[in-house]
Amino acid sequence: MSFFRTASLADQAVTLEAGGVILRPPLMADFEEWAVLREQSRDFLTPWEPTWPIDDLTRSAFRRRIKRYIDDQRADQAYAFFVYRSADRALVGGITLANIRRGVAQAGSIGYWMGAPFAGQGYMSAAVRALMPYAYGALRLHRLEAACIPTNQPSIRLLERCGFSREGYARKYLCIDGVWQDHLLFARLKDDPTP
Ligand SMILES: CC(C)(COP(=O)(O)OP(=O)(O)OC[C@H]1O[C@@H](n2cnc3c(N)ncnc32)[C@H](O)[C@@H]1OP(=O)(O)O)[C@@H](O)C(=O)NCCC(=O)NCCS
Repeated sequence: MSFFRTASLADQAVTLEAGGVILRPPLMADFEEWAVLREQSRDFLTPWEPTWPIDDLTRSAFRRRIKRYIDDQRADQAYAFFVYRSADRALVGGITLANIRRGVAQAGSIGYWMGAPFAGQGYMSAAVRALMPYAYGALRLHRLEAACIPTNQPSIRLLERCGFSREGYARKYLCIDGVWQDHLLFARLKDDPTP
């Protein structure tokens, strides 16, 4: 596991590398590779994500996305990363630690996506594991949360494999693919064991 700072995104830009993946904050220069992978993965991802805006894969929407990531990170509200395969630096997916609550909660929620050509190869398990020491360490979080639709077996398996426990069931919790959908709620505390 290595943490090292980059000069690319504000002063807080952190790159995490472990388990065959590299996590680093998205940059404007990532647009083409990101847009190609998201378009290639559209049918794979859209059943599990909020509805994509019509202009989602345009350069101007990506610029707004990057600005939002920077603003959110500066405000300590969310930390977004793209996930790269260490072997060849190919973009494989993304993971965001969002909805950071400080004070008595010290909690945040993770969300993630994997490009269709790279799914089922362990990359997101590696990415979640790479993120955890940073979230519990430098970011001083006590609790990581995640939610998924009950039929999303790959996401459930991923969370269980990374040591998350199922804590609850929230009715019509998030609007996914245009429909308010029930979700399973998972969490992992700082000192919980990773299987
Ligand atoms: C969920 C997702 C991020 C997982 O990424 P990934 O890199 O494929 O995950 P991993 O390979 O690290 O692990 C996935 C686990 O699900 C299993 N899995 C993969 N495809 C599966 C399937 N169709 N049915 C059941 N299990 C499956 C894998 O075997 C693995 O379990 P294991 O550790 O017991 O072997 C990815 O599948 C994805 O982006 N899905 C579509 C979008 C999505 O679901 N986003 C999350 C919303 S909560």
